[in-house]
Amino acid sequence: MTTVIDAPDAKAPPTAKHQVTDLLEVLPGLLAKFECNNAGGSHKVRAARYIIDSAIATGAIVPGQTTVIEKTGGNFGFGLALACRPHRTRVELAVGLGFSQLKRQYLEFVGARLVGASMMEKGATPRDVVQWRLEHADELGRHYFYTDQFANKASVAAHELETAPEIAHQLAAWPHVRKLTFVACAGTGASLTGIANGLISAGYCVDVILVEPDGCDARNAVFVDHKLEGMSVGVAPPFLDWAMIKETRAVDYANVAAAKSDFARRTGFLVGNTTAACLSVAMPLAATMRADSKVLTLLYDHGLWYTPA
Ligand SMILES: Cc1ncc(COP(=O)(O)O)c(C=O)c1O
Repeated sequence: MTTVIDAPDAKAPPTAKHQVTDLLEVLPGLLAKFECNNAGGSHKVRAARYIIDSAIATGAIVPGQTTVIEKTGGNFGFGLALACRPHRTRVELAVGLGFSQLKRQYLEFVGARLVGASMMEKGATPRDVVQWRLEHADELGRHYFYTDQFANKASVAAHELETAPEIAHQLAAWPHVRKLTFVACAGTGASLTGIANGLISAGYCVDVILVEPDGCDARNAVFVDHKLEGMSVGVAPPFLDWAMIKETRAVDYANVAAAKSDFARRTGFLVGNTTAACLSVAMPLAATMRADSKVLTLLYDHGLWYTPA
């Protein structure tokens, strides 16, 4: 469930922009921020809104004229479709052919146009598709803005200035808690870095544990194929601040699937694969927390997108 509450210092009545996702103690010692309940189904809508709003503010996007383009496998695409709609800005997405068919269909359902399938069938990558379209913008009759989520720092600001203050505000419900162990994964690294920084600024002592699929080592840019769509995506997360990572934990898929099932049975919540990866580390840790400490994790997206195991 998602509640709508006033932002801490908001004078205006709540609107969709003030929608705050729940922070619940889902198991003893384990706080989960329900980012899956954002409009668009994940934390990525926050990054999308910040990126689009800042591009409009600088004039890089002209509402009604510009087409936004991005290579994304889903959640950021949903965020873009929602963030662009009020500004009459079209969205084109190059989605890798390996991504869930259901997500592809729903991206079109919310108004995004999927581009480049025929190029990708011949071996082009989503990046090649975006590059080609940017180079041929005149012929295509487009004025493009490439959101370039792996290079756009507005996504870090989204989490530092929005998600983290929300969590800090909600943590008032646990007044004795001063220390957090934040268990998170990284695609761009924006949510991990933004939230950790924001909570430190709010006065919390934060230890960060980075979760990676077995065989991946982002610090050394080593990646293997895996089933945890959205994390460890084959490039070193550009926004990850390694100085704040206390520990990295590798998880294998069998343990992730077991954690997903265990969490669903104990709490009733069906979570996505990256969330389950974090939970496989967070759940055993939560049981060891002292009174002034909690484990914090994000429920990045819902489980119904993905097959159960
Ligand atoms: C389901 C899921 N989990 C985790 C991430 C990683 O988020 P970030 O890009 O903020 O590191 C993503 C990013 O797309 C995602 O879709």
